[in-house]
Amino acid sequence: MANPGLTTCLSPAQLAEESLLAKRIVIIDVLRATSTICAALYHGMKSVITVADIKAAATYRKGDFIVAAERQGKTPEGFQYGNSPLTYQTKEFINKTLVLSTSNGTNAVEKSKTASEILCGAFVNLNALIAYMQKHPMDSILLCAGWHEQPAFEDSLLAGALVKMLKADYSIENDAGLLAGSLYEKHAMNLFEAFKQSDHFKRLSGLGREEDLRYCAGINVAPVVPQWQKDRFVVVH
Ligand code: MLT
Repeated sequence: MANPGLTTCLSPAQLAEESLLAKRIVIIDVLRATSTICAALYHGMKSVITVADIKAAATYRKGDFIVAAERQGKTPEGFQYGNSPLTYQTKEFINKTLVLSTSNGTNAVEKSKTASEILCGAFVNLNALIAYMQKHPMDSILLCAGWHEQPAFEDSLLAGALVKMLKADYSIENDAGLLAGSLYEKHAMNLFEAFKQSDHFKRLSGLGREEDLRYCAGINVAPVVPQWQKDRFVVVH
């Protein structure tokens, strides 16, 4: 039996309008949405509802939710919580549901909703995601959230790590995957130094988010696999 295909989209703009039915999409937003979702679920939050529209996110304040947002790397006015993966690691949030709206990551989720399965990928859950995808082979698309429809260096790095580590189990379907794999090979031994080259690293560093950056570069520090079920992400593995 042939291996399932693994297609890489370095930004949502590359997600062809092809049918996503019977396909898995792995959302990649290393800085910081998918790292935050993995951290929140690993540290005991029950689920994460992602909402692309910030006004829609605000309506959840009426319910028993932890409502968080990020725009241009900052917490928008009127929101108590932002998109730091470090925020959701305390006991006060255990068994709570996080509602999260971010600049790019939550839009990528919106674009993926006709897929057969949606997972979250980041460095913080790399090995758990690899093990899950090896155990559950399925034609998959690595969808990098990027920044305003442009590729992001750190997302491409993670996509490259997945391409390299899954190449025995999946058929690499496009040159974007080869590009990402080569990028990862070049930087695998010193990811944090590589991160420092990225626009988003500089943006977040300028906002004083160094601790977030170090956390998001931490391999396997939140070893869970978030899967979209009905209207939210929950832990599937
Ligand atoms: C995004 O959605 O692009 C990121 O999560 C932005 C951020 O957290 O800085």
